[in-house]
Formats: sequence, structure tokens, C-alpha cells
Amino acid sequence: MIPKYTLYPYETLPSTNDMAHTLAQTGAPEWSVVVAHTQTAGRGRLNRKFHSPRGTGLYMSVLLRPQIAPCDALKITTAAAVSVAEAVERIFGVDVKIKWVNDVLVAGKKVCGILTESRLSGEALDYAVLGIGVNLATPSGDFPEEIREIAGAVSDGTGDLGKMRTQLMEGILEAFYPRYQNLNVKPCPFLEDYKARLCCLNRPVHILGEDGTLEKGTPVDLEPDFSLRIVMEDGQVKCLRAGEISLRLS
Ligand code: BTN
Repeated sequence: MIPKYTLYPYETLPSTNDMAHTLAQTGAPEWSVVVAHTQTAGRGRLNRKFHSPRGTGLYMSVLLRPQIAPCDALKITTAAAVSVAEAVERIFGVDVKIKWVNDVLVAGKKVCGILTESRLSGEALDYAVLGIGVNLATPSGDFPEEIREIAGAVSDGTGDLGKMRTQLMEGILEAFYPRYQNLNVKPCPFLEDYKARLCCLNRPVHILGEDGTLEKGTPVDLEPDFSLRIVMEDGQVKCLRAGEISLRLS
């Protein structure tokens, strides 16, 4: 079932996440959905830029007001990752994997990034903005040099990209809605779906710390709170929380 959402469509925005924050702060209800054809300052995790060219991507931000503990906010991102994977698979007929914690991959290339930004009111979660950027097709002139090796798209670019954008946006909302309604259910009902799509289990990875440190290890399991259990090169076992690190497949 698709939630009853209100669409805020724009040609150009600095970032759909910023506009969703503005809506949140002026009292907009949840399921306010901001989309733009292009972003001039699209952003990703760890303060990275998210390349958002006109016409070839879906750039959307959903305002949510979840009744969950702030420590469970990561589940919004993981629920969204499984939902994007499911929707892309159904609509485009391609195999979709997840690179912990928020990247969606097709044929080993990143086709979607997810950035959830939460705001607290005292100790409680006030609202969250779920930002999703999907490469529908390779931009004319290709992806910028610095992401050319790792970026991909969900389609070959033939067909009506405008129609695909709407279909994918609604497909994502439809797949995400039931998971969102169950964020407080324990054990998490979509943990196994997420884990089944992880591309990094039992494969050596490089772990990039926010401070630029680089370590090697092998992810062996996913914990109930979606942290990743990794056996480090020296045999030590660590559970990594999102936000602390970024993974690179070796
Ligand atoms: C990442 O890859 O680290 C996350 C990328 C998230 C990009 C989306 S595009 C829509 C929304 N607006 C933004 O500025 N960022 C998110």
C-alpha cells in the first residue's frame, strides 16, 4: 500500500533534504515528499557531494515523524535501502545488492545513495528527513571522473525517464511504507531481507575511518541493530556502527 503523500516538485534545488528540513520546521506533516530534477548542492554521507545532474536521476526527500527512539533511526536508512532494492528489481528487472550501510548496487556499481538526517527535540526524535538519490541513467558525457569507476545506473537510458522517475518514486514509497510502520517491532522484520542483499559478507574489505585511517577486515555477520560484525586482520572482532566508517570492497 502506498502512503497518502503530498508532493513538492521543483525544477532545481540546492538539496531536496534542505527543503524537507524547512518543511519540517514549518510544521508540515509526515509523508511530505520533495523532488527536484536537479540539485546544485546534493549531499551524501560523511559530507560528500552527491552528483545530481538534470534529467537522469531521481532526487527525493521524505519527511517522517517516526515514534521511535533516536538510537533506532538507522533502521529508517536500512528499511529504505531494502525498499529501493526491491522497487528497482521489480521495475527494471535487474539484480540489486546493498553495500552496508546505505548504498544500493547493480552489477557492482553504486546506483543509489541514502542519507537520513534526524533532528531531536530534547531526548526524543522530532523528525527525520529520508533523502534518496537514484541514477536512472548514465548522464550525457558520463559520470564525473572521480566517481566514474564506482557509479552506475538502473537503466540503459532508453525509454521515458520522466515516467520511470515517477514509477520508481512511488515504488519506493510503497515498499518502504509497511517497513516504516514496523520500525518498533523486535526482532526487526526486515533484518533478514537486508542481510540477504549484503554484498560484503565474508569478503575482505577496507574500512575507512572518518579520520582517514584505513584498516582491513572481513564482515562476517549483521547484528540485530544493523551494526556489522567484522573480523579484523589481526583476528580481533569489532562491531561497526554506521557513521563511524565507510567500506571499500577489496
Ligand atoms: C550517499 O551516497 O552518501 C547518500 C546520497 C544521498 C543523496 C540524496 S539525493 C536526495 C537527497 N538530497 C540530498 O542532498 N541528498 C539526498
